[in-house]
Amino acid sequence: MSENTTSSDQSIEERGSNRSQRPASRAFKNFVMSQWAPRADLGVSASRAVPFTATRRAALSTRLPGARLVIPAGPLRTRSNDTDYRFRPHSAFAHLTGLGTDQEPDAVLVLEPVEEGTGDPAADGTPSNHHAVLYVRPLAPRDNEEFFADARYGEFWVGARPTLADVETLTGIEARHVDELKDALAKDVGDGGVVLLVMTGADEEIETLVDAIRAEAGLDLAERAEAEASAEAAERASDVLDDAALVEAASEIRLLKDELEIEHLREAVARTIEGFEAVVRALPRAVAHRRGERVIETTFDANARLEGNAVGYETIAAAGDHATTLHWIRNDGEVREGDLVLLDGGVEVDSLYTADVTRTLPVGGEYSDVQRRIYRAVLDAADAAFAVARPGARFRDLHDAAMEVIAARLEEWGLLPDGVTAAEALGQDGQQHRRWMVHGTSHHLGLDVHDCAQARREMYLDGELTPGMVFTIEPGLYFKADDLAVPEEYRGIGVRIEDDVLITADGNENLSAALPREPEAVEAWMAGLRG
Ligand code: GLY
Ligand code: MN
Repeated sequence: MSENTTSSDQSIEERGSNRSQRPASRAFKNFVMSQWAPRADLGVSASRAVPFTATRRAALSTRLPGARLVIPAGPLRTRSNDTDYRFRPHSAFAHLTGLGTDQEPDAVLVLEPVEEGTGDPAADGTPSNHHAVLYVRPLAPRDNEEFFADARYGEFWVGARPTLADVETLTGIEARHVDELKDALAKDVGDGGVVLLVMTGADEEIETLVDAIRAEAGLDLAERAEAEASAEAAERASDVLDDAALVEAASEIRLLKDELEIEHLREAVARTIEGFEAVVRALPRAVAHRRGERVIETTFDANARLEGNAVGYETIAAAGDHATTLHWIRNDGEVREGDLVLLDGGVEVDSLYTADVTRTLPVGGEYSDVQRRIYRAVLDAADAAFAVARPGARFRDLHDAAMEVIAARLEEWGLLPDGVTAAEALGQDGQQHRRWMVHGTSHHLGLDVHDCAQARREMYLDGELTPGMVFTIEPGLYFKADDLAVPEEYRGIGVRIEDDVLITADGNENLSAALPREPEAVEAWMAGLRG
């Protein structure tokens, strides 16, 4: 036998079930599928999101009239071998359906184009250009083997799924069996027919299906290559294949949050603040543990799971020099009295909206002089960004305002290179101050911690701040332990202060203001919690 030959005729794929001891007897099957009480009513009622999601779908519809829009929830994702992660639908799907935690693997929202102005209405009654249909995998009956034999979808294994009627009640959207999806997507696609656009990045299988439908209709990707040579073909190909238009539109309609989204974000911030309070109470335990950062992480994450869906991103619990690593999520270090600890965490609530808040706390309860000096500079930078956060300003102004303070403070401390002024550093050819803050000052926040990431630059960085926008303000300063460009007293100190901000009609509201920011207020708050 050669070294490359396996010792069994069974294929590797087939071996996945080698540990299975499920009986195959008819007697077992008949018995396990019988004698069940009628299914209890799941008690589904219309979600509060129904009128809001109708308006969101109408906004998308306005952007892409005449195109069939395919927005998958996404599949279950494998953690390892045959074990899945907990399901979280794609954010665009959640935004347009209102479905949140655990709902609904493999579902696909299709916005079917209808004659312009005759589609499903927004909440104010204005008709859209599309009719929405949700394709879902409904609850399997108990006389179906899936019931007990399918570890991924079966009721015995993962619980009961909603019926089509439940989904319609919950979402206000017509629901059909996912088995009907292929025919529905393929209908009338072809030259001069319906344009089919899919939200990429959500479900590879659906993308493959859409590509196959396009290929069958003679609209395959080869045509796109050909398009280079012919302007007419180029126009046609981009009409047919430009999924990016859907991705972009779905991202940009999320730049302005509606009333319900703001309510969800307020809830996420409130739960997050409770997490910070729990962490302060746990600090003595963190100091006593060899992996004190894990005490902080698990305290924050436990609250997120108890009071919300989960954390909105991996918690950063960074003590001492670890705070100078921007996304320190290993969280396996010690927490020492006298050090600072940077906690960057956000609770994602069941609707999947997340907060994103950072505080840098003195482990012993009081900032040292140098820690306070650095903290003050970062806080002043944040306040400068808050001062320009009002309707009419540009998103990029937030960063510019914060950087003016950071550069000025670094100049004052003599940290900019010899002969470089703050003004020179702020120029495009300078930027030396960014050595100590390489990240941006702000990002949009919502269903994704870095929300609206596929919006065009002119809508995002160069976009105008508008009431209803929610974003972070999060300047920082990070002096690494081995940074020879700064005096020793600065080394090993990282500070970031991050708040979640809503643009209002006449300025802004700091949604996370209930969590103290001023150094003296942080100290008093910590003392109060630790008793
Ligand atoms: N708070 C994590 C981040 O904004 O990247
Ligand atoms: Mn952030």
